[in-house]
Amino acid sequence: MSQLLLNALHCHNQERPPIWLMRQAGRYLQEYQVMRKGRRLYDLFHDLEAIIQATLLPINLLQVDAAILFTDILTVLEGLSIRYDFVDGTGPVVHALPDELLMIEPQTAYAHITSAIRALKKELSVPLLGFAGAPFTIACYLIEGKTSRDQAKTKRRLFSDPAGFQELIDTLTTATIAYLNCQIDAGVDAVQLFDSWASALGVWEFREYCLKPMQKIVSAIKPRVPIILFCRGSSLFASELASLKPSAISIDWSGDLPTIRKGIPRTIALQGNLDPMVLYGTRAGIEQATDRLLEGMQKEPGYIFNLGHGVLPDTPADHVKFLVDYVRTRSEAFAAA
Ligand code: CP3
Repeated sequence: MSQLLLNALHCHNQERPPIWLMRQAGRYLQEYQVMRKGRRLYDLFHDLEAIIQATLLPINLLQVDAAILFTDILTVLEGLSIRYDFVDGTGPVVHALPDELLMIEPQTAYAHITSAIRALKKELSVPLLGFAGAPFTIACYLIEGKTSRDQAKTKRRLFSDPAGFQELIDTLTTATIAYLNCQIDAGVDAVQLFDSWASALGVWEFREYCLKPMQKIVSAIKPRVPIILFCRGSSLFASELASLKPSAISIDWSGDLPTIRKGIPRTIALQGNLDPMVLYGTRAGIEQATDRLLEGMQKEPGYIFNLGHGVLPDTPADHVKFLVDYVRTRSEAFAAA
């Protein structure tokens, strides 16, 4: 198996930086659209063959250095018997949040995920990343019922019933650890935690409802496999995230990565930082933005090339392919220089 990603996660990489992309298997790929046509997304996420095929698509089409399991952050809810669905044009929806959350046996709840991981591990020659949503982001989906821009209902709940909200976060933290442990038992090589809505919070609430649960998750998981932390607003929150001593932090596109690097201990790897919308521009623009990043992070043994957030659904697929090829060629030159 290629060691580039794992070496970078341990801040030991002496070769070119590895590259993978958040949402690398998605609608921007025509091959994915063909798989998806006429099918409900929920069904796709529960079809073993589809999970395997979608996970492998970007590996075969783009030759990225890591695979990420094709599932969604809402899958964790299956271990709490909470029903959800995906509605075209709306995204994920949770119809009702039960008064009491009961955990069911994780091995049973997540059997489709663990079977897919076992099968994928036999096929892949690059590491397989597992993932989960962070408790705060999952709480947002539970309380809002769907994607929200400002998380107003969630924040109203948090400020009006802090004890109840804390209880929900604690339950989700326990479920997330159980879910990630199932993924690790089945063979994932590293995991990423997505706190996509963390930036809706002020700093004090961020510390209470994002950092503290993430700390529990990092403490449980990092002794087993490397863990990458992502949140929207990670440029701003980088040093707070670093205080949890994760293996890596995935940085959005707001901050200057080499400057952020100076403030983070050298034992923590950094990932990301390219604005996904650069891919809407010209090839010359993609080259320029990539060169700037690679130059700034030259000879960094703990850098993983990625976008600052996921590939957008209407991104030209040929530009994504161009980016991956360009990063591989240019970063080899930078590594050799
Ligand atoms: O990166 C990958 O290729 C792996 C798969 C992956 C999916 N969701 C599959 C998916 C990952 C890592 C996720 C994480 C996820 N899901 C997050 C965290 C990352 C982030 O973007 O901040 C969040 C917030 C979600 C919730 C979610 N699921 C949203 C907002 C959507 C998109 C709705 C839309 O219509 O665009 C989904 C659906 C979803 N999850 C798709 C995929 C490939 C879209 C698939 C489709 O419509 O066919």
